[in-house]
Amino acid sequence: MELLLKLRWYFLEQWRRYAIAIAMFIGVDILEMCIPWITGRVIDHVVAGTLTPSLLQRYAFAVIGIAVAVYVMRFLWRVTLFHSSFHLAETMRRRLYHHLTRLSPGFYHEHRTGDLMARATNDISAIEMTAGEGVLSGIDGLVTGLLVIVIMLFMSWPLTLVALLPFPFMAWYFMILGKQLHAGFRDAQERFSDLNDRVQESLSGIRMIRAFGREAREDEEFLEIADRAAEANIRVAAIDSRYDPAIFISIGLSFLLCIGMGAWLVEREMLTLGQLTSFTMYLGFLIWPMFAYGWVLNIIERGSAAYARVEQLLATPPAVEDKGHVSHVSGADLQFNIETFSYPGTAPVLRDIHLQVKAGQTLGVVGATGSGKSTLLALLLRYYDAPAVRITVGGTPLQDLTLHALREAIAVVPQDPFLFTATIAENIALGAPDASREAVRAAAELVTMDRDILRFPKGYDTLVGERGITLSGGQKQRIAIARALLLDAPILVLDDALSAVDVGTERRILDHLCEIRRDRTTVMLYHRLSAGEHADQIIVLSHGEIIERGTHQELLRMGGWYAQMYEYQQLEQSVEAGR
Ligand SMILES: Nc1ncnc2c1ncn2[C@@H]1O[C@H](COP(=O)(O)OP(=O)(O)OP(=O)(O)O)[C@@H](O)[C@H]1O
Ligand SMILES: [Mg+2]
Repeated sequence: MELLLKLRWYFLEQWRRYAIAIAMFIGVDILEMCIPWITGRVIDHVVAGTLTPSLLQRYAFAVIGIAVAVYVMRFLWRVTLFHSSFHLAETMRRRLYHHLTRLSPGFYHEHRTGDLMARATNDISAIEMTAGEGVLSGIDGLVTGLLVIVIMLFMSWPLTLVALLPFPFMAWYFMILGKQLHAGFRDAQERFSDLNDRVQESLSGIRMIRAFGREAREDEEFLEIADRAAEANIRVAAIDSRYDPAIFISIGLSFLLCIGMGAWLVEREMLTLGQLTSFTMYLGFLIWPMFAYGWVLNIIERGSAAYARVEQLLATPPAVEDKGHVSHVSGADLQFNIETFSYPGTAPVLRDIHLQVKAGQTLGVVGATGSGKSTLLALLLRYYDAPAVRITVGGTPLQDLTLHALREAIAVVPQDPFLFTATIAENIALGAPDASREAVRAAAELVTMDRDILRFPKGYDTLVGERGITLSGGQKQRIAIARALLLDAPILVLDDALSAVDVGTERRILDHLCEIRRDRTTVMLYHRLSAGEHADQIIVLSHGEIIERGTHQELLRMGGWYAQMYEYQQLEQSVEAGR
């Protein structure tokens, strides 16, 4: 029931629809109540021998009229109510999605994709069901039940009290079942998350699974997870299936008590036979509210278990707060002052990084894998906040900029670019959807991708991704760079963006970049040191600290890590060329 309170905002927002629906089904219930009354009247007429054909005809028409009216109204309130519950699902999904787009990369490290998907789909459907069918059956059951009991009390209160004797016991039993159900649903939904997660992982990693011959193992593990999900659902079904017999037993007992006591009353002429018939029919009307009660408890328990899971996601605060007040970046110079930075629960990943990049200059960042290069970028992009990290862009501290301004000022090519299931042109124009085809082509030409693209079946309109063509690693990287170039942002950031292209292509792309980005600031992270020959400043990171800094030539003269690595790479390259 707590869930209904939590969904209060929604019911208030949609109160008109709910009011119309409720009014309509109260109408339906009242109309339906007329039928036993008419039946009782007919029987009394039969017993008294006063039933004429015209009277019977009138009663028959009344019953048909009621049936038609009930049909129409039932249809209308269902449409009204389900409309609102679908709307609730949409609202909740929108909120969740909106929230998910604002959470930190760290959040996505901690949460599994399958689980997030389960919450966005399965759990929200369960909430939707509560707000629609749950509320509907609940109120309908309540109204019918109350109406029936009031009528029965009017007909004969002693008979009513006797007939309803078994009900309190049933209500008590239902309460116990409800508690068990809640736990059961929570478990079942978690198991479903696991299952979802596994399917998602297996599908994404299907090539690895095949390549490593892990099919049998994966099958086995999947079976285990599927089994656990099934077991959880069976447990829920087992609890759920105790409702119906309980209802039948109670109703059966009620009928027994009603007929026994009723016959006694008729014999004493305190009740007519027709009245007893009507009364028994009214008692029959209680079957539905009883089922509704069980069913609603079930739906509400499922919904509140789901709501708790969705709420938990919604309550996760975004990693960085968007509280800046500067909505435009006014320069392209960068300043880093990082005393120390560590990820939640890790040792410091960066230490004593102090450096300045003038507008228009190129900063090269090199270092062994795991030395903290990508982390430096993550801080520049403000994926994380930390007190000992002070970075300014155009003289403004990152925290003072709105996130929108920051993202607009920096175009990023991440280490593992992601292409969406869309055409190549759409993928390139990701950050600038209104860009003209010429602009898209110009960007593709800069990364020497134009010719590759024209060779695809539909050129720029070729679909990439799951239902389209598969691109090579180097092609993907170049599309990601074109995407960033198209933004024409004052600051360009490349995280190992050319690792998958050959040396010649890399050279050509870098030359193009040099030409077009003369007055823009560029931050480049890379492994192949020849890429930094034109950088104005290069830093060498090792275990999160700057161990060497200077231009390419200066670093070579130093004879340290950089010089050794460069020599080694040159050697490697000439060996490869000679083969
Ligand atoms: N989200 C994270 N949570 C915890 N630790 C992290 C996270 N991301 C990176 N690290 C750790 O921080 C260190 C630096 O990682 P980073 O990704 O910055 O290295 P890198 O220099 O970019 O390496 P590469 O050249 O392989 O891309 C590593 O030890 C890594 O394990
Ligand atoms: Mg990296």
